[in-house]
Amino acid sequence: MERSNHNGTLSLNDVNKEVTLVGWVHKRRNLGSLLFIDLRDRSGIVQVTVREGVKVPDIRNEYVIWVKGKVAKKDVPNKQLKTGEIEVIASEIKVINKAETTPIIIDDNTDALEDTRLKYRYLDLRRPINQKRLQIRANVVKATHEYLDANDFLEVETPILTLSTPEGARDYLVPSRIHKGCFYALPQSPQMYKQLLMIAGCERYYQIAKCFRDEDLRADRQPDFTQIDIETSFLDQDQVLTMMEGLIAHIFKKVINYDIKLPLRRMKYDDAVRDYGSDKPETRFEMKLKDIKDIVKGSDFGVFKDNQFVRALVVNGVADKTSRKVIDKLQLEAKKFSLKGYIVLKFENKKLDGSIVKYLSDEIVNNLIKELKLKDNDIVIIAASNSYRDASFGLGALRASYGNELKLIPPHTHDALYIVDFPLFEISKETGMLTSCHHPFTRPKDDEAYLLDKDPSKVHASAYDMVIDGNEAGGGSLRIYDPEMQKKVFKILGLTDEDIKRKFGFFIDAFKYGTPPHGGIAFGLERIVMMLSETNNIRDVIAFPKNLSAMCPMSNSPREVDQDQLDELGIQIKKEK
Ligand code: AMO
Repeated sequence: MERSNHNGTLSLNDVNKEVTLVGWVHKRRNLGSLLFIDLRDRSGIVQVTVREGVKVPDIRNEYVIWVKGKVAKKDVPNKQLKTGEIEVIASEIKVINKAETTPIIIDDNTDALEDTRLKYRYLDLRRPINQKRLQIRANVVKATHEYLDANDFLEVETPILTLSTPEGARDYLVPSRIHKGCFYALPQSPQMYKQLLMIAGCERYYQIAKCFRDEDLRADRQPDFTQIDIETSFLDQDQVLTMMEGLIAHIFKKVINYDIKLPLRRMKYDDAVRDYGSDKPETRFEMKLKDIKDIVKGSDFGVFKDNQFVRALVVNGVADKTSRKVIDKLQLEAKKFSLKGYIVLKFENKKLDGSIVKYLSDEIVNNLIKELKLKDNDIVIIAASNSYRDASFGLGALRASYGNELKLIPPHTHDALYIVDFPLFEISKETGMLTSCHHPFTRPKDDEAYLLDKDPSKVHASAYDMVIDGNEAGGGSLRIYDPEMQKKVFKILGLTDEDIKRKFGFFIDAFKYGTPPHGGIAFGLERIVMMLSETNNIRDVIAFPKNLSAMCPMSNSPREVDQDQLDELGIQIKKEK
């Protein structure tokens, strides 16, 4: 098909040129003697003007057409379009293919529900904003290849039909026809394979890897997603972090021409929880949490007396908007963090007000006002708990939502940092047992390894997350390379020798044959694309995503399969009672 130019690239430089264009009819306006067609292709939209005398076939929105014409300067530029300074005066138009009326409007502004958009995703993707997101994603992948290739990384693919890896989510299982009753697991990540590749002598591995996790979905989680997965040998933690911040800076520069200042700061996990109540702090605004136990410790108020930790968040300028209804809503939020509730105080007309103020001495009230630097119309939200983590994370979640609500984040800015020194283990709320904060292959910090025998809950890990704009963009660690230490960690996690042999026998065996010290990281590709395209919905940056109930409304998967297929696999479906 004859095509001289891409629509979105035409400019004043092309004036008077004869062009042949193709694309979809984005919009058309018929003014009797004049017909205007907005012609769209992947590169953008250009206005085609058809004057009287040119034969025009029947044309409707989304028809695929071919146009021959001449580029002309427009008398009045259209500021909405990148090509708005020119138009193409058509001399010939042909219809290549017709289109039925589309079930959604093909425009950046569409009122279609998300499930309808996902059902007709191939039409939804025609919207310029989605074309842009696909482009950004492709550019991120390209920049990743560039950087890692230049730094001597070898791209290696690892299997999709594999075995369970301990990343903490439920596995997607695939039944084997040949080995009835046996199942492959889809990889939650290539974790064990990338470590085996280090034992295999690869030294620097990467992969744009598909990962699968059956977990509760959220705005930033999909059941199948993609990691930029990386592993290195012979580097210490600082060398890994320096190499990886270079990758992120390269991606931001190449894709959106944004300068990430290096080196990134390294914030200790404990400090992040103390100041921001989060292990993925949004650092683009202040509003830090404060400890007020010392200020209120003389009070007779039971909640303050009975709880070891009393922490506060000051939100500026919202007292007049904090109605009873708002306060009741906050109490519901508290439950999510195992807190009984929040205490909300208002500072108005130089007075601290709230149901508990009557239990506080004047001295305590004055100290609160002074230490929390209260200004008129501020509120103080207080969380009290015997769990430092619950009190902090509860307030941290409120901090994040107030940050959004009050638009405290400067637009088009990004902030990246590392969170380091995570605890090696945490206590599982379900079982009360120790579980790995990261995964069981994570190396304890060298100077704390001796504590594994005495008090494992005190050990910190050589683990790190990269946090960008309040999102966990990536996480990794240095790995254990001593088989004895690995066994010890498995034991602390409650695995018996039998379990270790059955689940990880081959993996542990490999470590006997000369394992280099190694460590790595995995970035969530979609999370990076989300930040670069300024959306907080992961489904916006995946060509064919699942909805929040892990379904694809377009292909209707997952669905039931034929009985023959089940018979062949030796599977019988239990009927729900
Ligand atoms: P982790 O489990 O922290 O580490 O995952 C690494 C990164 O992957 C992204 N991510 C997700 N993105 C979208 N949907 C999901 N369901 C999802 N789950 C995780 C996040 C996260 O930071 N093997 C280790 C890495 C290592 O130790 O090297 C791992 O997978 O951005």
